[in-house]
Amino acid sequence: MTSTLNGKTVIVIGGSSGIGAAVAKAAAARGAQVVLAGRRLSAGNENGLRSEPVDVTDAASLQRLFESVGRFHHLVYTSGPSVRAKTLAETDLDEAQANFNVKLWGSLRAIQLALPFLDEHGSISLTSGQLGRKAAAGQFIKTGINAATEALGKQLAKELAPRRVNVISPGVIDTPAYAGLTEEQRLAMFAKAGGALPVGRVGQAGEVAAGYVLAMENGFMTGAVIDIDGGGLL
Ligand SMILES: NC(=O)c1ccc[n+]([C@@H]2O[C@H](COP(=O)([O-])OP(=O)(O)OC[C@H]3O[C@@H](n4cnc5c(N)ncnc54)[C@H](OP(=O)(O)O)[C@@H]3O)[C@@H](O)[C@H]2O)c1
Repeated sequence: MTSTLNGKTVIVIGGSSGIGAAVAKAAAARGAQVVLAGRRLSAGNENGLRSEPVDVTDAASLQRLFESVGRFHHLVYTSGPSVRAKTLAETDLDEAQANFNVKLWGSLRAIQLALPFLDEHGSISLTSGQLGRKAAAGQFIKTGINAATEALGKQLAKELAPRRVNVISPGVIDTPAYAGLTEEQRLAMFAKAGGALPVGRVGQAGEVAAGYVLAMENGFMTGAVIDIDGGGLL
């Protein structure tokens, strides 16, 4: 069966790495024209897909991205900062604000600037994370960003209709987000986190990408939060 993504244009902001790169690959495999965007990309071609530079903290940069692509059908937003776990008491709030600026404000900035170009029957897929609904000491930044993203996803599903808005909430996924750890630390963290889950392991980017594909393809899905976390919220 032909995918509803066939021939559609999909912009993946955060497509330069991890979950975003996996979404781009999955959408392209279904016949979509994919545009990858991220700070480390330049205008050209990355692994056979169109690439464009963007910094989500800079409105002019986002505007340039949307103008260069023109009309498109699906916006996927996976950009996220590297956040260090720290208590509120230990945190420099300017640093926390910069983290919110990338993932939460960046997504709102991107949506606002995308609207004139986004097809009326298209969709927006945002990214939260299980810490939005799982209280853990030292994680107030991720909890705040992800909880707000999920609330706004539902609110925007009403406000932007008939465009559809969904949120994908990953659990612990093996991506370059953990590149700051040594190989030994990373494997130990994955073994501990995965061992505590019903599925017994952490997730892979391709497994989470399937949620974004569902959100883009399914015309009856809006205002949803799709948990792909190996049972981490149970
Ligand atoms: N991996 C997990 O365990 C996990 C769990 C829960 C939630 N998540 C969420 O899933 C999303 C994707 O994470 P990931 O694991 O795929 O991490 P990743 O591989 O580190 O990817 C992060 C992406 O964010 C982009 N980015 C960061 N700052 C940006 C900026 N100022 N402008 C534009 N793009 C920017 C990066 O692109 P450039 O460097 O090219 O700009 C990169 O493509 C994030 O929102 C993360 O919070 C991940």
